[in-house]
Amino acid sequence: KNLVQVPAEMQSRAPPYAKLIGKLELVKAITNNTPLTLAEKILYSHLCNPEESLPSSNLHDIRGLQYLKLNPDRVAMQDASAQMALLQFMTTGLAQTSVPASIHCDHLIVGKDGESQDLVSSIATNKEVFDFLQSCADKYGIQFWGPGSGIIHQIVLENFSAPGLMMLGTDSHTPNAGGLGSIAIGVGGADAVDALTGTPWELKAPKILGVKLTGKMQNWASPKDVITKLAGILTVRGGTGYIVEYFGEGVSSLSCTGMATICNMGAEIGATTSTFPYQEAHARYLRATGRGVVAEAAEAAAKNYNFLSADEGAQYDKVLEINLSELEPHVNGPFTPDLSTPISDFGSTSLKENWPQKISAGLIGSCTNSSYQDMTRAVDLVRQASSAGLKPRIPFFVTPGSEQIRATLERDGLIKTFKDNGAIVLANACGPCIGQWDRQDVPKTSKETNAIFTSFNRNFRARNDGNRNTMNFLTSPEMVTTMIYSGDAQFNPITDSITREDGSEFKFEPPSGIELPHEGFLQGRKEFYPPKEPKPDSSVEVKVSPTSDRLQLLEPFKPWDGKEVKTHVLMKVEGKCTTDHISAAGVWLKYKGHLENISYNTLIGAQNKETGEVNKAYDLDGTAFGIPELMIKWKNEGRPWIVVAEHNYGEGSAREHAALSPRFLGGKIILVKSFARIHETNLKKQGMLPLTFSNESDYDRISSGDVLETSGLTDMIAKDGNNGGELDVKVTKKDGSSFTIKTKHTMSKDQISFFKAGSAINFIGDSSRT
Ligand code: F3S
Repeated sequence: KNLVQVPAEMQSRAPPYAKLIGKLELVKAITNNTPLTLAEKILYSHLCNPEESLPSSNLHDIRGLQYLKLNPDRVAMQDASAQMALLQFMTTGLAQTSVPASIHCDHLIVGKDGESQDLVSSIATNKEVFDFLQSCADKYGIQFWGPGSGIIHQIVLENFSAPGLMMLGTDSHTPNAGGLGSIAIGVGGADAVDALTGTPWELKAPKILGVKLTGKMQNWASPKDVITKLAGILTVRGGTGYIVEYFGEGVSSLSCTGMATICNMGAEIGATTSTFPYQEAHARYLRATGRGVVAEAAEAAAKNYNFLSADEGAQYDKVLEINLSELEPHVNGPFTPDLSTPISDFGSTSLKENWPQKISAGLIGSCTNSSYQDMTRAVDLVRQASSAGLKPRIPFFVTPGSEQIRATLERDGLIKTFKDNGAIVLANACGPCIGQWDRQDVPKTSKETNAIFTSFNRNFRARNDGNRNTMNFLTSPEMVTTMIYSGDAQFNPITDSITREDGSEFKFEPPSGIELPHEGFLQGRKEFYPPKEPKPDSSVEVKVSPTSDRLQLLEPFKPWDGKEVKTHVLMKVEGKCTTDHISAAGVWLKYKGHLENISYNTLIGAQNKETGEVNKAYDLDGTAFGIPELMIKWKNEGRPWIVVAEHNYGEGSAREHAALSPRFLGGKIILVKSFARIHETNLKKQGMLPLTFSNESDYDRISSGDVLETSGLTDMIAKDGNNGGELDVKVTKKDGSSFTIKTKHTMSKDQISFFKAGSAINFIGDSSRT
């Protein structure tokens, strides 16, 4: 009652509100009407069994401690990570997915000359992989969005995300969908397989970080500045273990796509995900994207059941406040997204830090910032510059997020304006954002530092053009666009002018944009759209050639042998070690479906603490090897190994190869000062043992070549992990002396089962067969 019935043909695109609200009422009854945050409402209404998971009192005490077993509503996978997710799904022997799912071909498309040329060559290069993905989609009833259709997160926002939905995506920027009020979490392929097989998906009950937005966004400030500023405050680790929930009167001045930008980059502060309460802007966006009935259903769920915003008195673990009226554009980087500088300080900081004074390129778009609003604001600045007779001073690239956005921009004259003003419009795909930038002006091997301005979300070394000396400064599309006309790190468009060739001065006016196209969105070219409701077809054959160097069927990992784990320290990693360091992207993306081949990239970006070298590890007799080469040697010798590292190990993406490859190459334990959440989970899913030092200074007592052996693992396993605890590790030095250190683990009962079975997939496969 008091809910809107969604017609059958739209049901896969709307959260099952009646069911979710029923569960929420049960949760309220169990917890004696404890006021809930929005994130709790969405998560707990997706619990498999609220009675088992939730206490009747002190509900907040479970945050950060209790594992929740959840039933997500849908799964989205991008082409690079979908390969391994589907190879794993295939090993379970199921005939179709348990929840609606989609595949998006976006990461494998190169950006170089522009859409038409790049798409043809990328399809030719990756045909085998796209054919594999399409055949899996056809066989298992998954919706297939082919190359050129758009970037996963943009397509999800345009089609699938909705207030109150809970979804998983095999990409770390899946939280982008939170802009439309959902809980969308980035995971590895093995986690996606949980949802695809209907196995409850486990998540530790997150803490909730409330961000109160006050004031009103205006002039040069943009949604990007909310998150770039927040990244500066919280750092790349500040959101770990939290869901970020925005609230406050400032939210109503944001567009839905602006909220998506903010949620997208919540990944950069390590947050589990981010979300917004139901807004009029959500209803406007849903209607504009052909989902008026979903808007009505959401509105009824919000109004009649208060499902889509926090309860009065809901408790946040922390609250931060940002006044949008005072918000200034920020520029974040280089090499880390939390090094945040307000534009007014950027010039002086860049001099102090010796950053390049000439900017070498500007790139806008990507999954983070390619909305109609972003592009109309950028084009407004292009038009201002063009009317003043200015020409771009540096190369300018525009990446539309989807065919729908591209076609709408084309109809409304924006693509022409960009192109007429020197921009190269790339395919609707990830391209330069993920290292698929065939950059012509600066060679990959250049030793000279260069700086680019982008509206992307991530800026680890070598991420964009494969060049470790390219500094990527992340900022709003508006700031990037003005930089195209200045090219000078000292330029602040809010206060400074640009000198024209005739010596006169030109100053930009604050940009103005349009939230949603007046004439509605245009779908664009039909060939980029999949059938609305895919059906499984068991007669479809999924082909994987045994001689392929791109795809390889998986062999199950061996189950645990029931003994303590004894390992040699292969290497001590120094400092930042992101998933880009552990499993590099760029050229390696092509091997995502071939575990053996991609494993040659394992930890090649990591720095050896003992020698300062990158990709260098030493055998027990002192012989130097590349890191993966030594792993392979030790694997062949039957010598299990451990890697020791520092803080936030595995920061960055949901890349499960960063867990699969070490496991494949004979790794048993990763021992660190702290983990990034997704990566720690990925390690557990692949049957590895992730441990953290109880006493961080023990990191200094361990050297490469030491023998580390667990003591009490069998007990811990017998107790089903006990949802985390301590584990002793005996360290034997090369001279025979030894001592014992304390470490911590966070293994739940199910994760112990994965460890025992050899991997989560082995466990699911075993369970579905019995
Ligand atoms: Fe693609 Fe970059 Fe987004 S790689 S999914 S455009 S973060």
